[in-house]
Amino acid sequence: MNIRIPERVARAAWALNGAAALAAGIGIASPAPTLAAPRHSFSVGVNTFLLDGKPFQIRCGEIHAPRVPREYWQNRLRAARAMGLNTVCAYLFWNMHEPTPGQFNWAGQADAAEFCRLAQEEGLWVILRPGPYSCAEWEMGGFPWWLLKDDDIRLRSNDPRYLEAARRYLQEVGRALGPLQVTRGGPILMVQVENEYGFYGKDAQYMGALRQAMIDAGFDVTLFDCNPPQQLKDGYRADLFPVVNFGSDPAGGFKALREILPQGPLMCGEFYPGWFDTWGAPHHTGNAARYLADLETMLQAGASFSIYMAHGGTTFGWWSGADRPFKPDTSSYDYDAPITEAGWVTDKFLQTRALFAKYLQPGETLPEAPARNPVLAFGPVAAAEQASLFANLPAARPDLKPRAMEQYDEGYGCILYRTTLPAGPAAVLEATAVHDFGYVFLGGERLGVMDRRSGNFKVRLPERRQPVTLDILVEAMGRVNFGQEVHDRKGLRGPVRLAATGAAASELTGWQVFPLPYGEGGAYFDRLRFSASPADGRQTGPAFWRATVQLEKAADTFLDLRSWGKGLVWVNGHCLGRFWNIGPTQTMYLPGPWLQAGQNQIVILDVLGPDKPVIVGLETPILDQLRPQLDFAQTRRPPVALRLDSAKPVHSAAFLPGPAAQEVRFNTAAKGRFFCLESLSAQDGKAYAAVAELDLLDEAGKPLSHEGWTVAYVDSEEREREDGTAENAIDGQTANFWHTQWGGASPGHPHRLVLDLGQSRLLSGFRYVPRQGAATAGGRIKDYRVYVGDSLVATGGN
Ligand code: GLA
Repeated sequence: MNIRIPERVARAAWALNGAAALAAGIGIASPAPTLAAPRHSFSVGVNTFLLDGKPFQIRCGEIHAPRVPREYWQNRLRAARAMGLNTVCAYLFWNMHEPTPGQFNWAGQADAAEFCRLAQEEGLWVILRPGPYSCAEWEMGGFPWWLLKDDDIRLRSNDPRYLEAARRYLQEVGRALGPLQVTRGGPILMVQVENEYGFYGKDAQYMGALRQAMIDAGFDVTLFDCNPPQQLKDGYRADLFPVVNFGSDPAGGFKALREILPQGPLMCGEFYPGWFDTWGAPHHTGNAARYLADLETMLQAGASFSIYMAHGGTTFGWWSGADRPFKPDTSSYDYDAPITEAGWVTDKFLQTRALFAKYLQPGETLPEAPARNPVLAFGPVAAAEQASLFANLPAARPDLKPRAMEQYDEGYGCILYRTTLPAGPAAVLEATAVHDFGYVFLGGERLGVMDRRSGNFKVRLPERRQPVTLDILVEAMGRVNFGQEVHDRKGLRGPVRLAATGAAASELTGWQVFPLPYGEGGAYFDRLRFSASPADGRQTGPAFWRATVQLEKAADTFLDLRSWGKGLVWVNGHCLGRFWNIGPTQTMYLPGPWLQAGQNQIVILDVLGPDKPVIVGLETPILDQLRPQLDFAQTRRPPVALRLDSAKPVHSAAFLPGPAAQEVRFNTAAKGRFFCLESLSAQDGKAYAAVAELDLLDEAGKPLSHEGWTVAYVDSEEREREDGTAENAIDGQTANFWHTQWGGASPGHPHRLVLDLGQSRLLSGFRYVPRQGAATAGGRIKDYRVYVGDSLVATGGN
């Protein structure tokens, strides 16, 4: 494939620092920028980037400083250099740097400047992605929760409340990191504005406002933006250098880029060697052979790229986000990256290094990879102390009606809503919506879980002979990090009603609210009164457990949480992250620097309760063990029955072969709450159906927001051998897909996927994004029918 075009000397508006100061030749290995060193220049040339006026191919990889223990930043950067990268790409997460409005944090894991300096020392340039929105499977995509205190704020728009806050943040980023730009002797070559905005909107003026905010903040290096191929034109601005994100098919990706960038260096801003995991879905691994082949294609073409992720690391604390509609991300962010979560080099690393070695600059050499950090195993150690969550409540906040967590000034954690129910007959308790899990207790006994994944917010309550305490403990997982769903207010959302059999539902008012924020540091636990754990190792209600682990020496280890339920872990005050026994992740990476020789304190908050309250450290991770039988929701979706026989298709046709997105218009707009895509055959003639993404078009032909959509029914999905979950078709990401079952059984067409839009909508058509990847990718639908209506499914199954 040849994507070079004839040489023409022209420089686009984005090359702000324009002047190409010629550096004196290329040093040994790629030139290591040092603050004291002579200034280098970086710019966008006609076909390549120019470093000191000479062609420069960016071989970049993504590493997120907050996802790597600070003590290991140098280790991971050295490994990245040894793999053959000459640049590291790093997001900033606004919510980490501005935990409360106007209060900025650049300390510890948030010390982005130090991370950049270390990169420079290791001979790596830096591409900075400060946001304000970052996505990245990070809590709310990086946005600070406090933005949601304004009930109707519109994020990622020209809403002045949002823009003003974003400007203040970017100003601070400019103060903290501006001096590290290549124009000031630092390693930062380019800075990204927003992140894949085309997936969210088309407002170029909004992108312009952010661009200006970055310039006002002192950024004078190249400003760029990134989008997947299909969204490159949305929000496009000629004064932002565009890069394209894709996980496969470089030719297709760069062809789309050339439509808006007729000339200039081609760059893939995110090239995926693997993918992230969500709780309850199979572990993702990438196709190494295709990854290497696509990398070589880009190297041969002289294109630049950034491997997302080169090293994923761990989303420590409460920072993991959730994919939409609501698929909470695991704390492990191993991402099947070339450098593992614990910093180990893999075959994929060695193959990448060998490949890059063929494309080094004259005189450039690669250092050896750092040795693997030692690991240790320990235990089992019993968690000998327990503190019941209900017995350690803070002061109550009385409120007539339950409100979202943010309204009680709480960002991350759990929140308990308590009221008293009078004596009365058996009844159904129903919340309007719960973000994300509502554990319902009556008189301290857990009766059920309200579950955002299925949208099931009903719990049956037995007859009550006298007044009794009703508790709804809401556990907030990460806020959704993608799409409109980032407006993800946590807690009880709307009124809670009680309906006795045959009686009208009545709203429950008069609540005691107990915010239970997560925190870090030893002091966080000072308010808890621990006592000896019950001999039977049982817990009544959610509880904190504490264990003291004696170690001879400190080293990396992997905490085995398989005998526990669901919650968070703290080690010597560090919040390690979330665990959930349904998997696929069953261990938590515990960095050696967070342990010490001697006594170590491990505290576990378990909202469900352990099988055996013991702590074990392993020498290797477990990232791929799904245990659906342990899920408190035995059905992932409310049982429904398909009712197609009496329905008339609103459209039937055949899709074109290939990965390109296809827009379909109905002859007549159709109205309904449910949308059903029925595949009758596949392009390859096989039994399978797959869909990367489905968008529905309103009567004006505009794509509808996916907010509130769920999968009402699907006849088949592969969830053992790969993550072919149906929700992948409406999560906005085209790199994953719904795929019917192929492991164990291969049910044939017709295959049906029914979406519940939550309300009746007038649809003029839809957009189908086939499974991406090579021409041989299976499951691409050929003949199909579409149904739209209000009764395509009936609740209650059969
Ligand atoms: C997108 C985003 C990234 C990340 C990846 C998936 O492309 O830009 O932040 O979310 O998807 O890992």
